[in-house]
Amino acid sequence: MKNIYIETYGCQMNFADSEIVASLLQKEGYTVVSDIAEADYVLINTCAIRDNAEQRIRKRLRELRAMQQRHPQLRIGILGCMAERLQSQLMVEEENVSFVVGPDAYRRLPDILARVREQGVKAAETELSITETYSDIEPVRLGSNGISAYISIMRGCQNYCAYCVVPYTRGRERSRDPETIVSEAQSLFNQGYKEVTLLGQNVNSYRWKTDNSEVGFAGLMARVAEISPLLRVRFATSHPKDLSDRLLEVMAHYDNICKCIHLPVQSGSDRMLKLMNRHYDSAWYLDRIAAIRRYMPDCSITTDVIAGFCTETEEEHQMTLDMFRRVRYDYAYMFKFSMRPNTYAEKHLHDDVPDEVKTRRLEEIIALQGQIALENNRREVGKVYEVLVEGESHRSKERLFGRNSQNKVIVFDRHEVLPGQYVKVKVVDCTAATLLGELCTQ
Ligand code: SAH
Ligand code: SF4
Ligand code: F3S
Repeated sequence: MKNIYIETYGCQMNFADSEIVASLLQKEGYTVVSDIAEADYVLINTCAIRDNAEQRIRKRLRELRAMQQRHPQLRIGILGCMAERLQSQLMVEEENVSFVVGPDAYRRLPDILARVREQGVKAAETELSITETYSDIEPVRLGSNGISAYISIMRGCQNYCAYCVVPYTRGRERSRDPETIVSEAQSLFNQGYKEVTLLGQNVNSYRWKTDNSEVGFAGLMARVAEISPLLRVRFATSHPKDLSDRLLEVMAHYDNICKCIHLPVQSGSDRMLKLMNRHYDSAWYLDRIAAIRRYMPDCSITTDVIAGFCTETEEEHQMTLDMFRRVRYDYAYMFKFSMRPNTYAEKHLHDDVPDEVKTRRLEEIIALQGQIALENNRREVGKVYEVLVEGESHRSKERLFGRNSQNKVIVFDRHEVLPGQYVKVKVVDCTAATLLGELCTQ
């Protein structure tokens, strides 16, 4: 009765957390299985960022009911942000859930699983912590390609953007001891990994202070980059308010720090940004974009945006489209505003943009971004990039895919190349999402 199956939804941090959960449970004799039919426990690591993320989980729980009827011993637990947001209420609403565990309580999991099994009770542990970073836990890499891995370097967020549940589901911001981060990266490199992504909700606010030293995000990046020129370093997500020139300088200095910055803009309107409590305006944001281009003319820039936030006017929506035209993002995650319980927006603002207007605005942003991405990609044709090969192309066994430093996917004929290698590829064609290349003979 010790097989666990973990299903993960939401952001990269949730995926990183699932690897910590796997590690904590393996130490107690549990086995992570990849076939749900073999599971004694199904752990669902959930996201609460938008209403549709939660609806998806509820739908999944309904699907799992049939499976529980066939295997009455099966226990289902909810982890992550939805667990934290709804706590034990979730077990009342969803009868087939036996336990609920929030993001800072994963060390309690072995205990909870045993209690649920032996005493036949339900259990909820959702206390948030101001210190927990799981820094001593070596994650078990789940579904890994053995080439790239995530490293959580901080947890929580206290920016309280008006629309966002994360400060309530993840608790206070706290950074992890840099020594443990560097040694985790070194150990991954020793195992053959070629790329690490440092993760946090506001990764660039990273700060570790002791009596006689202080390490900021730029310093930490430099230390990880120093491990080896053959280890690529990425990071996500940066908050525009904290994007320092010092970080850009460090990025420009190290070839192995990937030239790609994810800088969520959320809106192009200053009134919206203020209402969202983002702590920057469009001028500040554009100044940071100019700084990125000054230090690294070849850096790709990606973003997140919300369409139809409370009271957004047509003119303000146009400002977002203008922002997209000015920055010319390589990629964007684009969302319709979804009102979340207990946020500032829910308590003080009106979700007054009709759903069909939100949808139309979102579609306009998507259409514009598709056009910009294609135009950006067309400019790549003829350039030669170093590509870290990740695996076989989904469409053809004869082709491989990898990414360049800018995080763009490039597909090319495999020849003798193996995943995990660095190769030079010349871009010969493109779509809005992918570059097509030819291997260069070195
Ligand atoms: N920490 C990151 C992103 C966290 S969530 C940051 O500060 O940028 C990822 C994205 O989801 C956000 O950037 C935002 O664009 C979107 N998002 C968050 N809350 C949302 C909501 N209530 N409705 C729609 N989109 C939302
Ligand atoms: Fe949410 Fe804002 Fe924190 Fe990002 S910075 S996680 S959007 S509150
Ligand atoms: Fe979702 Fe939680 Fe991440 S709400 S986006 S899983 S921090």
